[in-house]
Amino acid sequence: MGELRGTHVPVLLERCLEMLAPALGRPGRTVHVDATLGLAGHAEAVLSAHPDTVLIGLDRDTEALAHARVRLARFADRIHLEHAVYDELPEVLDRLGYPAIDGVLFDLGVSSLQLDAPDRGFAYAQDAPLDMRMDQTRGVTAEEVVNTYSHPDLARLLRVYGEEKFAGKIASAIIRERERNRITSSARLAELVRDAIPAPARRTGGHPAKRTFQALRIEVNRELAALETALPAALDKLTVGGRMVVLSYHSLEDRLTKQALADRVRSKGPVDLPVELPGSGPTFRLLSRGAELPGEAEVAANPRAASVRLRAAERLDPEAARQGRTDRERYRRRVKAMHQPGTGSPGSGKDPRSAPGDANGTDEEGEGT
Ligand SMILES: C[S@@+](CC[C@H](N)C(=O)[O-])C[C@H]1O[C@@H](n2cnc3c(N)ncnc32)[C@H](O)[C@@H]1O
Repeated sequence: MGELRGTHVPVLLERCLEMLAPALGRPGRTVHVDATLGLAGHAEAVLSAHPDTVLIGLDRDTEALAHARVRLARFADRIHLEHAVYDELPEVLDRLGYPAIDGVLFDLGVSSLQLDAPDRGFAYAQDAPLDMRMDQTRGVTAEEVVNTYSHPDLARLLRVYGEEKFAGKIASAIIRERERNRITSSARLAELVRDAIPAPARRTGGHPAKRTFQALRIEVNRELAALETALPAALDKLTVGGRMVVLSYHSLEDRLTKQALADRVRSKGPVDLPVELPGSGPTFRLLSRGAELPGEAEVAANPRAASVRLRAAERLDPEAARQGRTDRERYRRRVKAMHQPGTGSPGSGKDPRSAPGDANGTDEEGEGT
């Protein structure tokens, strides 16, 4: 294991700790899952802040796990570090004998360890074999993707995962090149991408190959499919009062997070019933108002934080949720009733925009901690 390169600053660390504290600081032993352990910056802070918390740290990257093990050595009696993809969380918990958890953090994407490694192919700025696997023990490499995918498949992944406007041109350049020579290095790929993008467009939006490399990384690691399964599985494992925090760096990651949470914070019962039917009430409440963004000072100190979006939620007590509609639901019913013929004039009700406690049942609003 080599020396760590650069300095790794955990993103939105104070806010994550603040969000998780009410769940992890409860009396007795609590269990926290760091689903993306990385270099264990967040994990170390959680363990320091909560002396009775057991940490289960997952990472698919064995190199990250080795670094994390060294960093967390002083907590050895209350940590389990597991080589796993985060969608394997339920099996990991079963194996370790933890039926439920109190906190879970997802800090998505790549770590500075991976980005800075000269030999792993994540960075367009360094020449390396085109690998890009977070787990180098399994799976297809970026080299296999660029040399075997059809034009439509390459163009689709560049467009969707990379939000690349010139996806078709870049895919054509890749196909032309590989008919002559297999593409094996990150420098060659970065050069091909730069040459495929019209000169005026190259001058905006950072390095021209940035979006292509991001798209390949997401494809190689099947990042979105794993996340789509992992988020509901982790939510299912949380105890009442347990909390999840997700840090996303890509609009598609944030959208999956928003959808997973929206599904749980809404009532599924009929809108016109005065009480919640058993099992139909919201099971979570949002802790963040929409997606929280980093402050200017954080971005200045840690450029990696620039694109972060934080969302968080807490599991509700099912009895409390069943006792009646949330303010939001009551408010919706009142507004609906106001617009039904023969149910009073629009001027007779309170201004709907002044609804109190408008914190639940929506995927855009939450409640501070
Ligand atoms: C941004 S880093 C986490 C940094 C960490 N919070 C810290 O403070 O050091 C993301 C980590 O998640 C890991 N990772 C990404 N996708 C994963 C997945 N599907 N399953 C498990 N680990 C994953 C990566 O290997 C990387 O080490």
